[in-house]
Amino acid sequence: MGYSVREDVWWARAITIFILLLGFHAESEGCLKEEREALLKLKEAFNYPSGSSLPSWNNQTFSDCCTWESVQCDNSTHRVIVIDLSYTRAEELGHINGLLGDFRLVNLEALSLQDNMLTEFPYFDLSHSRNLDELWLDENYLEGGIPKSVTSLTSLTVLTLRNNNLNGSLPQQGGLCNLKNILLLDLTDNEFEGQLPPCLGNLTSLRTLYLLRTRFEGNFPFSLFHTLRSLTALVLSDNNFSGSFSLSSLVNNSNLKIFSILCSNTNLRLETENPPFIPSFQLRFFMILNCTLNEAKAKRMPTFLLHQYDLLFLQLSYLNISGTFPSWLLTNNTKLNYFNLTHSFFTGPFELNSTSKLLQMEYFDISSNPIRDEMPSHIGFIFPNLISLNMSLTLLRGCFSTSIGEMRQLNDLDLSNNNLSGYLPQEFGQGNNELRFLKLSNNHLSGPCLPIGSNFTSLLLLDLNNNNFKGKLEGGVMNSTELRILDISANQLSSELPSWIGNLQHLSYLTLSNNSLRGSLPESFCNLTKLTYLDLSKNKFIGSLPICLNFPLLKYLHLQSNHFKGPLPSTLANSPLLLTLNLMNNNFSGQVSKLNGSFLSLRILMLKGNKLEGPIPTRLCELKNIRLLDLSQNKLSGGIPYCLNNITFGKIDARGETEIGHFIVSWTTRLSLYGFYVETGGITMDEEKRNVTSYKDQEVDFTTKRRYESYKGSILNFMSGMDLSSNELTDEIPSQIGYLGTIHALNLSNNQLKGPIPETFSNLKQIESLDLSHNKLTGHIPEQLIQLYSLSVFSVSHNNLSGRTPDMKNQFATFDSANYEGNPFLCGPPLQQNCSKAGKNKQPHHLEGDDFRDAFLWSFAGAFGVFFIGVIIVFYLNPYICNYRLLILERAVTSYLYEWWQNRKTF
Ligand SMILES: *[C@@H]1O[C@H](CO)[C@@H](O)[C@H](O)[C@H]1NC(C)=O
Ligand SMILES: *[C@@H]1O[C@H](CO)[C@@H](O)[C@H](O)[C@H]1NC(C)=O
Ligand SMILES: *[C@@H]1O[C@H](CO)[C@@H](O)[C@H](O)[C@H]1NC(C)=O
Ligand SMILES: *[C@@H]1O[C@H](CO)[C@@H](O)[C@H](O)[C@H]1NC(C)=O
Ligand SMILES: *[C@@H]1O[C@H](CO)[C@@H](O)[C@H](O)[C@H]1NC(C)=O
Ligand SMILES: *[C@@H]1O[C@H](CO)[C@@H](O)[C@H](O)[C@H]1NC(C)=O
Ligand SMILES: *[C@@H]1O[C@H](CO)[C@@H](O)[C@H](O)[C@H]1NC(C)=O
Ligand SMILES: *[C@@H]1O[C@H](CO)[C@@H](O)[C@H](O)[C@H]1NC(C)=O
Repeated sequence: MGYSVREDVWWARAITIFILLLGFHAESEGCLKEEREALLKLKEAFNYPSGSSLPSWNNQTFSDCCTWESVQCDNSTHRVIVIDLSYTRAEELGHINGLLGDFRLVNLEALSLQDNMLTEFPYFDLSHSRNLDELWLDENYLEGGIPKSVTSLTSLTVLTLRNNNLNGSLPQQGGLCNLKNILLLDLTDNEFEGQLPPCLGNLTSLRTLYLLRTRFEGNFPFSLFHTLRSLTALVLSDNNFSGSFSLSSLVNNSNLKIFSILCSNTNLRLETENPPFIPSFQLRFFMILNCTLNEAKAKRMPTFLLHQYDLLFLQLSYLNISGTFPSWLLTNNTKLNYFNLTHSFFTGPFELNSTSKLLQMEYFDISSNPIRDEMPSHIGFIFPNLISLNMSLTLLRGCFSTSIGEMRQLNDLDLSNNNLSGYLPQEFGQGNNELRFLKLSNNHLSGPCLPIGSNFTSLLLLDLNNNNFKGKLEGGVMNSTELRILDISANQLSSELPSWIGNLQHLSYLTLSNNSLRGSLPESFCNLTKLTYLDLSKNKFIGSLPICLNFPLLKYLHLQSNHFKGPLPSTLANSPLLLTLNLMNNNFSGQVSKLNGSFLSLRILMLKGNKLEGPIPTRLCELKNIRLLDLSQNKLSGGIPYCLNNITFGKIDARGETEIGHFIVSWTTRLSLYGFYVETGGITMDEEKRNVTSYKDQEVDFTTKRRYESYKGSILNFMSGMDLSSNELTDEIPSQIGYLGTIHALNLSNNQLKGPIPETFSNLKQIESLDLSHNKLTGHIPEQLIQLYSLSVFSVSHNNLSGRTPDMKNQFATFDSANYEGNPFLCGPPLQQNCSKAGKNKQPHHLEGDDFRDAFLWSFAGAFGVFFIGVIIVFYLNPYICNYRLLILERAVTSYLYEWWQNRKTF
């Protein structure tokens, strides 16, 4: 949950200005000499050793320090009353320790030193600082406890210590409890320990209390609140509190406007029904996130909310609350602006009964609830000013509501993972010009993918994956020239690619896979120079790739399962960042020699099922980082390059793993997160006139889908293999292949390899699948192979091997005669043929194609076992992967496995 530091500063400034407005008159006569000197000392400390902040603070004798930047004086006394040095010290100058000295600024009322690399508290001598009212020390490196020189400043109304390294426990008497006039106390993000002192209940002026991530422990001290009758804002996280906290203990805090709690552990139980209560407060901001709520009462919705009608911000998420969708909240609270019930168990009916429009509503999120109802047809009329609407994973059915077109301000619409069907209405395409993010994936929507005449000129992301969109890639997308991410995969598009696709020049991620797109790629495709991910797989594209292709940022190229032809595109050499090149099952021809050391980062190279010919070039060995190499089912000839052992197949840690999962699209939102420093320091926020246009940059991570590469590359690290099968390779197997110690699968079958099986193969310690069948290998099977303890699939059938089969020990105890078949001169168990009678044997019969295929499939299944285990390890090692990610991850892995499997079957 972000709150913005800058925003705090904004408030600090605002307060400062307010104070300034309080007491000024008379002309300027210059500030006192001693104050000027004190300030200059301060400047020196802030700039030590070589900074250049505060240039207007100069030491000329007649310089009036009241005119200096960041300084304000009292108009009549000319004494400094406000110093705001927030963000003054440059970070590269390092920490300041102990240089500040004593503050001899007798009339100082407000001092802000936020974000200045301080490691020690400034020292205040009470006799010099008795007027100090506000002390802002957030975002520094303060350590230890809060010193007496601060806690004895009893005039303080504001003390903010957010985000420091304060530690130890607070004294149970005295200490902060001395600050009888305090209005705002912020201890967020520190490393305190022990209990929160009960004497804080003596701070009866306290209005705003922030205790996020402070690490206090013990029972939650709710009795505190009985005396804190001025409390307006209470912002908590569960810290290390335990026991149960009943909100009824706040029943008499009639000033409470803001209540917010984030939970991260289950030790603290939150109760709203035990006992039930009718509050004396009207909340504006209510948030409970990820807590154990109302355990005893079947996770019930807090009933005290029935008595609230002033809410602006309501978030009840990750709470597993059951019951029907609480539409009464919307009826009762007509000023709602932010409404978030995500990740609970709310069910339909999904009714919006309000008779009046909710004009303030900007953010509405009910995603991940089993609503199971239709989208209310008038939703756009009820929320005409919505900016963000998220109803993904709610089992919504029926049509896309036409009234969404009424939401003229809509920025972000997510209706993915539902059961919506029918066409997208024309009104939608024309009404929502502000739309930036549109996710409709995993529904049953049909018709053209965006209505003709759509005018989504600001769209950055369009995800229509897995629907029933048909026909042409319509002009509706054409106007969205700002697109960064376009996913229309797994639909039924069947046209040629229009040449206007080249106008989408900002595209970084483009997938149109799994449609029936045809024709050749238009020349204009070459304009898409910002692509990092391109997937056109499983379509019916034909022709050669345009020679102008130039993707300097490309990392993933998937063109498999089309009818592309011609030589491997030489312009691929312009994509030095390429990690995956998958051209399987096309009609590419010519030599492989184009691929060389310019693809140093390549991890996955899949050229299977093309018409490539000529030798495997030794320059391929320069692609050191490859983990999966599949050149099978081509017409490659010549020998296997001995240097293939230069390829690591995972031997060394792959350098520079790249993440495809994160597309950082910075976007602004008009959702000003509510300034928490509301109603302190004399400023009252007037909600009606709230400045919603204060934009904020946010980074949004988008996890891409259906590709295992999407997940930080780590999964790649668990699979390695080489498949050169079904080519026309000749000569002996180089003994160096035996040094591919980390390879999991090796398939050299269906070639014309001759000579012996290298003894070095006993070094393939991680190999699970080794297929050398259907070659012309001769000699003995090296006895040392029985040391391959991971081997689960092994075939040398249909060669000319002779001598004894390896002892039936270890893994070899599990192999039967089929693995050895078709070698007339082999003898020993599991073969029938006894070694003493070697040579006088019946003709071996040919292995049926199907058996062979099964054996082959199993060889890859074995390798994938490891692959899966890898995935699971990744998951367990990273507890921060949320369920949603896991879901995608599972899907990705399964689909990849499936793809391999399918491709295997078709040989
Ligand atoms: C203080 O003085 C400044 C400039 O002389 C003036 O603009 C301001 O209004 C004065 N403040 C008050 C409260 O009189
Ligand atoms: C402060 O609170 C404590 C108990 O929490 C009480 O013992 C003490 O007398 C109070 N002090 C003052 C000055 O009110
Ligand atoms: C709230 O006030 C009522 C009436 O004054 C009193 O009976 C009740 O005990 C108070 N509850 C709390 C939790 O302070
Ligand atoms: C809110 O709605 C509920 C259910 O419709 C109703 O019982 C309650 O009185 C309403 N509360 C307010 C404050 O309007
Ligand atoms: C909402 O309106 C429908 C009919 O329009 C009615 O059946 C339903 O009871 C109403 N729900 C609430 C919570 O008022
Ligand atoms: C499309 O939207 C832009 C503003 O985003 C507007 O200027 C333009 O006139 C609109 N075009 C059509 C055809 O509605
Ligand atoms: C293989 O690696 C060795 C040692 O790093 C190097 O000398 C040799 O040139 C490489 N061979 C090829 C073909 O890249
Ligand atoms: C409020 O919005 C206006 C523009 O409408 C802007 O100029 C002003 O800086 C904003 N104020 C704040 C405090 O964000």
